[in-house]
Amino acid sequence: MVNEDVDGEREVSAASLGADGDFDSGLRPRSLADFIGQAKVREQLELVLAGAKGRGATPDHILLSGPPGLGKTSLAMIIAGEMGAAIRVTSGPALERAGDLAAMLSNLVEGDVLFIDEIHRIARPAEEMLYLAMEDFRVDVVVGKGPGATSIPLDVAPFTLVGATTRSGSLTGPLRDRFGFTAHMEFYEPPELLAVLRRSAAILGIRMREDAGAEIARRSRGTPRIANRLLRRVRDYAEVRSDGEVTVEVARAALSVYDVDSQGFDRLDRAVLDALVRGFGGGPVGVSTLAVAVGEEPATVEEVCEPFLVRAGMVARTPRGRVATAAAWNHLGLTPPAGALSAAFGVRVRDPGTADAEPADAEPTVGLFDEL
Ligand SMILES: Nc1ncnc2c1ncn2[C@@H]1O[C@H](COP(=O)(O)OP(=O)(O)O)[C@@H](O)[C@H]1O
Ligand SMILES: [Mg+2]
Repeated sequence: MVNEDVDGEREVSAASLGADGDFDSGLRPRSLADFIGQAKVREQLELVLAGAKGRGATPDHILLSGPPGLGKTSLAMIIAGEMGAAIRVTSGPALERAGDLAAMLSNLVEGDVLFIDEIHRIARPAEEMLYLAMEDFRVDVVVGKGPGATSIPLDVAPFTLVGATTRSGSLTGPLRDRFGFTAHMEFYEPPELLAVLRRSAAILGIRMREDAGAEIARRSRGTPRIANRLLRRVRDYAEVRSDGEVTVEVARAALSVYDVDSQGFDRLDRAVLDALVRGFGGGPVGVSTLAVAVGEEPATVEEVCEPFLVRAGMVARTPRGRVATAAAWNHLGLTPPAGALSAAFGVRVRDPGTADAEPADAEPTVGLFDEL
């Protein structure tokens, strides 16, 4: 059984990363078949779950990694649903003391799914307890302090840990190694977002024209959560300023009211681009400097803005800092300086209208794109 109430709790911490509160819960896909896009992840997950079911065992621990709003929480609930298991939800920041985690673990029933959102923010002592629990289904609870302290071993029922993270890079090696499967969630392609929008429009009873859906999809930053949010804003516009039907004209007019530009960049994306290009001459500049320049948390710039700007071919990560590509200069209506990186430099530029601009195997050069 999926516990709906925990949703709101989770969203509190996700709010800073742009979540839309519990409006989303009605739109959450409930089963793998309902889950649109992420074909690769879905196939891998299907195998992991079917294999475990066939053996009558609990599935391996699963890590879901990717930017906010791509469906990590939804997938965690789906995993539990597909296994017919109960899900217990907590988050890294909530597990400040090892005792918090011990309480959670000792309440698990065999087969349960334990979902830890933002698992990269788990406190060290809880993390160390988690190692043993993940590997041996056992925890050592320390009672007392100093020389008189004793550690009492406690069995934990076999469970599946599902961790979600927006920055798998900051997970420690030992924790990462204990997951049997990592799902790397990718930004969605416009046709996939269109399918998400069609589904949501049907659930919410919104009349949406196909071309309007395509327009919203193209401007949703590759993110289902944003697609759903824009759909609700466009609906408001359609109801207040028109006859309620979402047409392409209505969609365009509404999106311009909400400052979503033709590429889907929002105000913060544009502020970051603007600071990078106009304020720092195109870089290289460190991400925390950029964050200060736009008055945002470094985590928000790094986890929310940057992945999409990189994916859109506007920003490149280099060992010396973030650099604006020629496309970024052009997007701001400026002439790129000689020597500006081309948009295709090390990043895959995907145009919604055409095939990939780059061959699929054009992966970023590893050394060049190391985190700073
Ligand atoms: N594959 C998908 N198909 C349909 N809707 C999706 C999908 N992924 C995400 N969504 C929508 O986006 C919202 C946010 O997804 P969520 O799982 O909370 O993302 P995350 O946990 O990665 O931030 C969901 O409530 C759902 O409405
Ligand atoms: Mg989530």
